[in-house]
Amino acid sequence: MKTISGTLTVFAVTALAGLAFAAGGKDSKKGEDLFRQHCMACHADGGNIINPAKTIGKETLKASGISDWKGIVKVMRNPGPGMTKFDVKAVPDKDAKLIAEYILKTFK
Ligand code: HEC
Repeated sequence: MKTISGTLTVFAVTALAGLAFAAGGKDSKKGEDLFRQHCMACHADGGNIINPAKTIGKETLKASGISDWKGIVKVMRNPGPGMTKFDVKAVPDKDAKLIAEYILKTFK
């Protein structure tokens, strides 16, 4: 166990999460997984490491005119400066909605 690498640990955790999902996880769990996969690098804990003024907490989103999942998906398809663009090939509409719903219910 002492020699296990970080990469292996991440792999094991991901594999376990996948198993949990396969064993009957809900859409919300999938939204969380997708968020971790695509958004976490910049928006860990609902923040924003590149532009700290543009977090994805509810109040900040509201100030940006974003109040529902559609608004969040719109940002993914056509992001502002510094954010990766996620088109339908990278994140299909169904998954984009799950991510958006996860964000809305998770970050204040
Ligand atoms: C490479 C870093 C990066 C990644 C990855 C990233 N974002 Fe962003 N995000 C940003 C930056 C930078 C901004 C601010 C852009 C601007 O100035 O309008 C932003 C802004 C946003 C906003 C608007 C926030 C506001 O207060 O106006 C939303 C919503 C958002 N991101 C959602 C997402 C989602 C969902 C994902 C994953 C699918 C994601 N982001 C992945 C960097 C990132």
